Amino acid sequence: MKERSVPMPTSLKAVTHAQNIRYDKAAEALYIIDQSLLPNEERELRLQSVEEMVEAIQALRVRGAPAIGICAAYCLYVLARSISTPDPAAFQSQLKAYAAQLNASRPTAVNLSWALREMEHTAAAHLGDPRPALLEALYQKAVDIHEDDIAKCRAISEYGLSLLQEGGGVLTHCNAGPLATSRYGTAQGPFLLAAERGMHIRVFADETRPLLQGARLTSYELHRAGVDVTLICDNMASMVMKNGWVQACFVGCDRVAANGDTANKIGTSGVSILAKHYGIPVYVLGPTSTIDLNCPSGDHIPIELRDPEEIKALWYEKPMALPGVKCYNPSFDVTDHALIAGIVTEKGICRPPYTESLAALFR
Ligand code: MRU
Repeated sequence: MKERSVPMPTSLKAVTHAQNIRYDKAAEALYIIDQSLLPNEERELRLQSVEEMVEAIQALRVRGAPAIGICAAYCLYVLARSISTPDPAAFQSQLKAYAAQLNASRPTAVNLSWALREMEHTAAAHLGDPRPALLEALYQKAVDIHEDDIAKCRAISEYGLSLLQEGGGVLTHCNAGPLATSRYGTAQGPFLLAAERGMHIRVFADETRPLLQGARLTSYELHRAGVDVTLICDNMASMVMKNGWVQACFVGCDRVAANGDTANKIGTSGVSILAKHYGIPVYVLGPTSTIDLNCPSGDHIPIELRDPEEIKALWYEKPMALPGVKCYNPSFDVTDHALIAGIVTEKGICRPPYTESLAALFR
């Protein structure tokens, strides 16, 4: 993988325009910001082989449901360019094999399979075209998926902001900002939009163990954008709610089932249970590409299990637990739809009963 340093964004505009995924068409080169190095170092990585791409997704160098989908779309275009066979059927079967490899990299966020499916449909529709035209169609599709996400994030941010009051407080979990999406983000988009409009919103960001996306990424993005953000450990959320400092919780999503059950970063369901106790509404914010109507409920959402070392050893030079200690490290959990006050999409805010309001989005 080729690497190069890029300047850290230090203003609201720089944060909302940071290019976490960048395709340089003149050089035909795909770059991502390596999120695993943030907040200490901002470095771009060039992804060329399918092995590098799968590794980047699995190691959370590119992460966040929409960003994984956008990146996978560009990845498939890069891989399509590398297929040399002139035979359309052989081309399609190699592309399918690459898509399957990318799709197997992480199981929970549905945006990954969604974006790859969109790319494969595009390839199928242009299979009879000369190869340069077929590749151009794939490139355009990846750009469309990317640009579409920018527009969706902006609309989600507007709807989310309509739920907030000047001077209000919001708790968020994990990272659903520009790095996890494009431009504004989903659950963090309303805070950036509020800052743009001179509104004051006080954000409490859970650090989000074990990989600290809240500390490393959310507080990094919001602080640099000038948003009033306070970082807390996950086990402090209850006290912040009890103190009356937040009037809502905004979280992102990796897959929303047809009944509204929502998979998001591990700990989200705990936050939602706490919020119910304190009478605080929980809003899930995400694009319609994260809604999986084929998945009837949260029981059917595959939950990624990650390396125990992330719990035991990652953040200190010395181990944090004895080597033989057993660990359970699910990356996501499912929040029961009964705990969710609204699901904010680019098409509007869905309210319960979700089986009806979510299905209506696709009619
Ligand atoms: O494991 P991660 O860091 O990819 O998990 C990310 C989340 O859970 C986000 O909240 C979700 O993908 C929404 S991003 C807009």
